[in-house]
Amino acid sequence: RPVPVTVAVTGGAGQIAYGLLFRIASGALLGPDTPVRLRLLEIPAAVAALEGVAMELEDGAFPLLESVDISDDPWLGFSGANIALLVGARPRTSGMERSDLLAANGPIFTEQGAAINAVAADDVKVLVVGNPANTNAFIAMTNAPDVPAARFTAMTRLDHNRAIAQLAKKVGAPAADISRMTVWGNHSATQYPDLAHAAVAGKPAVELVESSWVTEDFVPTVQQRGTAIIQARGASSAASAASAAIDHIRDWALGTPQGDWVSMAVPSDGSYGVPEGLISSFPVTCANGEYTIVPGLDPDDNARARIDASVAELVQERDAVIDLGFAKRD
Ligand code: NAI
Repeated sequence: RPVPVTVAVTGGAGQIAYGLLFRIASGALLGPDTPVRLRLLEIPAAVAALEGVAMELEDGAFPLLESVDISDDPWLGFSGANIALLVGARPRTSGMERSDLLAANGPIFTEQGAAINAVAADDVKVLVVGNPANTNAFIAMTNAPDVPAARFTAMTRLDHNRAIAQLAKKVGAPAADISRMTVWGNHSATQYPDLAHAAVAGKPAVELVESSWVTEDFVPTVQQRGTAIIQARGASSAASAASAAIDHIRDWALGTPQGDWVSMAVPSDGSYGVPEGLISSFPVTCANGEYTIVPGLDPDDNARARIDASVAELVQERDAVIDLGFAKRD
């Protein structure tokens, strides 16, 4: 029997986890041959609810699910984790500024970064979903000096998938026909969904849609999609976010298809003028459990300005959490 993979998930009693955990248990994350051990983390007030989720996981009788452990202690929860999905975060409540949100989440990701550093498996891969995702990932990364920085990533895959869906709908093609979509920057309204290199069944997307649709419809729809879901559903995207988290880790672990790429927020290596170490979304290819930023795309002036604006927001967030003492420069 293959070696089981230990997957730690924070925010285990939350909405996204409710969509995520059952798919992990079913094999959607790592394929039908890899058994999984789940380690679920919550805050003390939500441990009782988490016990209920663990009971439901048990009731799924999933052949691949070897064990479910629950905890409110990151030093236990991340123990031996090969994959860590940091979904739990302090939500933004009314009247809260972005700076308040950064301050509220700083201690959570400082502690979780330190715990991952101390007790996770040597090969740990980290995905931060909890918002502000890029900067939370940055905090965790800088608090885990013994883990290679490249293992800390944040989720822009939902934005990527939303961009694919909008283009597919526009041209009347199945989502499977869309390749080389790109999302740049922050997981926020400043993100830049870019279809300059996207293809529909191999044909350049820019030849199939009007440029006015791209600027007036496509870009704002993708940027504002999270808000539109909240307005329609009365709660933020959960099942689609869970699905995107599965896609992110599966592609990172098992590889992207030949000729295609995906969007992941990863520590910059200085590519595309993004300051080194900043966790920003890039197009990446994955193979052998590692990702590579797609080189040589040469964004045009408009794309350049949009990427720069989103990166400027990330720099501000980074500087704010450094000033608050949650992260160190370098
Ligand atoms: P939720 O509020 O339903 O669940 C969050 C859970 O995290 C709660 O059960 C809470 O008790 C738990 N939690 C809070 N602090 C924790 C800690 N220190 N350790 C362990 N657990 C902790 O929220 P939902 O809908 O599941 O969303 C989770 C996060 O994901 C939010 O921050 C949301 O903004 C973000 N999100 C990110 C997306 C992305 O594309 N990157 C998309 C959608 C949501």
